[in-house]
Amino acid sequence: MSNKVGVISMAATAVASASVLLLFSLATPASAKLSTAYYRETCPKAEQIISDVITGKQISTPTTAAGTLRLFFHDCFVGGCDASMLISTNVFNRAERDADDNISLPGDAFDTVTRAKTALELQCPGVVSCADVLALATRDLVVTLGGPFYTVRLGRKDALASTAAAVPGNLPSPNMTMDQLIRVFAKNKMTVQDMVALSGAHTVGFSHCSQFASRIFGHNGTGGHDPTMNSKYAEELQSACANYQEDPTIAAFNDVMTPGKFDNMYYQNVLRGLGLLASDAALAADKRTRPLVELYAANQTAFFSDFTRAMEKLSLVGVKTGRKGEIRRRCDEFNNLSSS
Ligand code: HEM
Ligand SMILES: *[C@@H]1O[C@H](CO)[C@@H](O)[C@H](O)[C@H]1NC(C)=O
Ligand SMILES: *[C@@H]1O[C@H](CO)[C@@H](O)[C@H](O)[C@H]1NC(C)=O
Ligand SMILES: *[C@@H]1O[C@H](CO)[C@@H](O)[C@H](O)[C@H]1NC(C)=O
Ligand SMILES: *[C@@H]1O[C@H](CO)[C@@H](O)[C@H](O)[C@H]1NC(C)=O
Ligand SMILES: *[C@@H]1O[C@H](CO)[C@@H](O)[C@H](O)[C@H]1NC(C)=O
Repeated sequence: MSNKVGVISMAATAVASASVLLLFSLATPASAKLSTAYYRETCPKAEQIISDVITGKQISTPTTAAGTLRLFFHDCFVGGCDASMLISTNVFNRAERDADDNISLPGDAFDTVTRAKTALELQCPGVVSCADVLALATRDLVVTLGGPFYTVRLGRKDALASTAAAVPGNLPSPNMTMDQLIRVFAKNKMTVQDMVALSGAHTVGFSHCSQFASRIFGHNGTGGHDPTMNSKYAEELQSACANYQEDPTIAAFNDVMTPGKFDNMYYQNVLRGLGLLASDAALAADKRTRPLVELYAANQTAFFSDFTRAMEKLSLVGVKTGRKGEIRRRCDEFNNLSSS
């Protein structure tokens, strides 16, 4: 009985949404075509398969989650959430992930997507896009670390192009001024509030010494550390990073207090001079962003709620549907190997 009711109401919804599409398809953005039920018929276990793979991967390699979250953010900010950042460079083309400004995305993150995609191809070949795999894997990994669950609508197609030349100017860097940071986010219709909430991602993962060396060595050419940093923290970083030029792999936790936990500690740190990157410290210094930092530092529920909304919004940036993209067979290659 209850089954029947379910079927009837589903059919009614399908009719309603079909007519909505007919009326408005010319005017609606691609993101409006995504839905949580996208693979319900074609690959009903997709979300479960992805979730199983990433849980195993995160247990065996705990750096996976932060790396994947950053990879997703970069993918979305360079031409949309379309898995263009997953394409490997080949003889025809230098891809986004190999852009000059050394975005140093970790191999673990690519490996997670590859594994999930391989598992999916066994169950439902050629159905689930790499862009959707990355979006779902990111959400599941955030939850694994203790972060909030949020809804991921599905139906993204994978990009037909990925070039290193598309990267410059589209990603934030720690030495940008607040005006520049705000502009990079605004390009993707992200507000100042979205930017501050998403920056809370720096509650996990790590940064290499080169990314904050100017704050701890020879700030303003003085030889000392940035005076806005907690002195003890700066000294510990100076000692940890002493050989960073010989060994560029040395890195520090983004959140020195609770490095592996997705919580609001990042904001508390930033207010106490324990922010790692210059851009982290800038959020506490600028009057446009400081009130939000104070709010999130005091109220984790407010942070989770704004982070959730901002991630849902980020996940829809520049998505491609229909013939604007494809379902890649392998996430690191276009189906047509001579594309670029
Ligand atoms: C506000 C501007 C931002 C700047 C300037 C910035 C910059 C950076 C830099 C320089 C690193 C260190 C990379 C390395 O040394 O390997 C980093 C790490 C990270 N970023 Fe950001 N980021 C920003 C915003 C974001 C956003 C919006 C997210 C996600 C929603 C994010 C997620 C991460 C994560 C998770 C890590 C750690 C990666 C790992 O452990 O592998 N960042 N960020
Ligand atoms: C980028 O990374 C490569 C290889 O890891 C390194 O040789 C190069 O010096 C780096 N470039 C910059 C600008 O950091
Ligand atoms: C910021 O850093 C990047 C790479 O580390 C460098 O290429 C760029 O010139 C710097 N920008 C400013 C404004 O210092
Ligand atoms: C030195 O750094 C401080 C704090 O970051 C800054 O306010 C000041 O303008 C800088 N001075 C110079 C000369 O760059
Ligand atoms: C924290 O933020 C949540 C969500 O915005 C709000 O409902 C709650 O009242 C806030 N709690 C306090 C103690 O301000
Ligand atoms: C593959 O891409 C190349 C280069 O863009 C193009 O010339 C060729 O027609 C494409 N082949 C197919 C089968 O789409």
